[in-house]
Amino acid sequence: QLTLREQLFEILAVTAAFYQHALHQPSGKAALEYLRSERQLNDETIQKFQLGYAPAGWETLYRYLVEQKKFSVQLVEQAGLIRRRKESQISYYDYFRDRLIIPIHDIQGRVIGFGGRTLTDEQPKYLNSPETPLFNKGKTLFALDRAKDAISKQDLAVVVEGYFDAIALHAAGITNAVASLGTALSLDQVKLLLRYNESKELVLNFDADKAGNTAAQRAISEIANLAYRGEIQLRILNLPNGKDADEYLKTYSVEKYQNLLTDAPLWLDWQVEQLLAGKDLRQANQYQQVAEEIVKILSSIIDDNQLTHYVNQCAERLSKGDSRQIPLIS
Ligand code: UTP
Ligand code: MN
Ligand code: MN
Ligand code: MN
Ligand code: MN
Repeated sequence: QLTLREQLFEILAVTAAFYQHALHQPSGKAALEYLRSERQLNDETIQKFQLGYAPAGWETLYRYLVEQKKFSVQLVEQAGLIRRRKESQISYYDYFRDRLIIPIHDIQGRVIGFGGRTLTDEQPKYLNSPETPLFNKGKTLFALDRAKDAISKQDLAVVVEGYFDAIALHAAGITNAVASLGTALSLDQVKLLLRYNESKELVLNFDADKAGNTAAQRAISEIANLAYRGEIQLRILNLPNGKDADEYLKTYSVEKYQNLLTDAPLWLDWQVEQLLAGKDLRQANQYQQVAEEIVKILSSIIDDNQLTHYVNQCAERLSKGDSRQIPLIS
């Protein structure tokens, strides 16, 4: 007799295969074309990530799983794949419809949920599986199953925001990349990464937009304690021109990305830069505000050498201002 979890795993695996098959049917043509031309993914990557298509009908998956495959409707609902119609006790509809499907796997590579991207401008852009007994978004890192060996070998993990950021990095040969699925990286997610990563080096590469910046700040406050204690080596990569990793790779090159990755500043340096950005230190109120914020950041540093280094560096920056950010009056 299978446990509940085993039954849900089976349903999700069958569903992933169904979506994958649908991508290569006539009704999946637009989705496949989107992957190939807009996302510039080759068939090997499409295959490797088991990308699929959820058909546009209201009950396509329902009929397949419940009527054809004879899975129990309660289990299919628990797997997060169908929902009961409000006005009815017995009628269900598919959760994912007319969306590009990205399966989400656990560390062992079993499907635990899906992300579904619209091919139109429908909202939300991405629909994700609801929380189920198998899927907890805040404890999952997309592509960790594919990235864990490279993370362990390089002792470095790159964390991006989006599904296609991780997929594009893997396709470009940067296989130590995982995605936090749009949330700020949680402590649970970092602990998952540290299992594979002896030198504990992490690079956060969130989108260079307002949401990405907020997510990076939130991630930092979530894991700052680990970083202050030296339990992780945290660096921040901010891409130029408001791009995410996927867009950057398409516009520039993997070599350029690799260089930015190598040069990504330590998180404290990044924090200080963020505080100084756009500030005019000759104005007393701005100077005081920045100085107070910097003291707040530096006061948690535990290591004496680090503290000395940053205090000196910040003192210098504050006394001089910074000609890059702050134009001098001629
Ligand atoms: P973004 O808004 O940056 O999307 O969200 P993206 O990944 O760059 O989207 P593309 O390139 O247009 O396809 C980053 C991540 O946040 C989550 C997804 O995991 C997405 O990849 N997200 C975003 C959602 O879960 N729902 C949304 O509606 C939007
Ligand atoms: Mn290792
Ligand atoms: Mn974004
Ligand atoms: Mn993005
Ligand atoms: Mn994107």
